[in-house]
Amino acid sequence: MSLRRISHQATRTDIYQNTDYVYYIAARILNLSLNLETRRNSSKDLPVIYAITPTHARSQQKAELTRLSQTFLHMSSFHWIVVEDSRKKSRKSAKGVEQRNLGISWLRKNVDLETQPGVVYFADDDNTYDLRIFAEMRRTRKISVWPVGLVGDLRYEAPVVKNGKVTGWRVSYDPSRKFATDMAGFAMNLRLFFEHPDLQFSHYTRPGSQESYIISKTNITLNDLEPLADNCTKVLVWHTRALPPNLQRKIK
Ligand code: UGA
Ligand code: MN
Repeated sequence: MSLRRISHQATRTDIYQNTDYVYYIAARILNLSLNLETRRNSSKDLPVIYAITPTHARSQQKAELTRLSQTFLHMSSFHWIVVEDSRKKSRKSAKGVEQRNLGISWLRKNVDLETQPGVVYFADDDNTYDLRIFAEMRRTRKISVWPVGLVGDLRYEAPVVKNGKVTGWRVSYDPSRKFATDMAGFAMNLRLFFEHPDLQFSHYTRPGSQESYIISKTNITLNDLEPLADNCTKVLVWHTRALPPNLQRKIK
């Protein structure tokens, strides 16, 4: 793909939060607006995909963010919100909750829904994304879902689809979850975050239930879910995890 012009706006904000369960969180928000000249004319009417990525400092962080950014660069009407964890570890079970919530509140403050429709996707920094899933999720009316590869001790997890409707979940981990999708397996119309001003992630859920929790809060039913990726028969996203490298060795 030829790439003639990339417009690139970056803002940085340091944010400190004080809550009952966190001493403080310093997060850095880096917003990159990426535009591809090749599709600029047609991109005006496209809903914007807002990808919110929690990230944290470790030796492979730069490699992960390089891989991710060079995937996202291919998309037009794509706004990447990267939120970095605090330097100090806090005692919390689920990862990325505060950062995703900061991303959500950034959207509420900065996006005018009337002039710019959008879709929100929570893109962890270590997953692998096929560009086709972005093209598909862009048309999400409420909440769309699709399979995720290499997750939950399975080759893939997937929504079960019958006659074009989601009827359940092919999962091994906690099948009692009402919406048993991984973070990488769903997208939400931005409007939902304005219709439900309190909609955000929570630490007070069972392990692995963040996704089911936030989807349930929208009062959506299984029947309302929009199955993508050829009625959930294709894997277009993988829950890849990098082995932390052993960097113990020292040379002069
Ligand atoms: C699984 C799910 O796929 C995540 O969406 C979920 O947030 C997580 O479990 C959880 O509930 O703890 P997993 O691969 O085990 O994901 O987690 P990571 O990839 O290590 O972390 C998820 C995201 O949070 C990543 O983008 C990562 O960079 C970020 N993270 C991780 C932090 O911001 N801080 C940390 O200390 C660890
Ligand atoms: Mn991960």
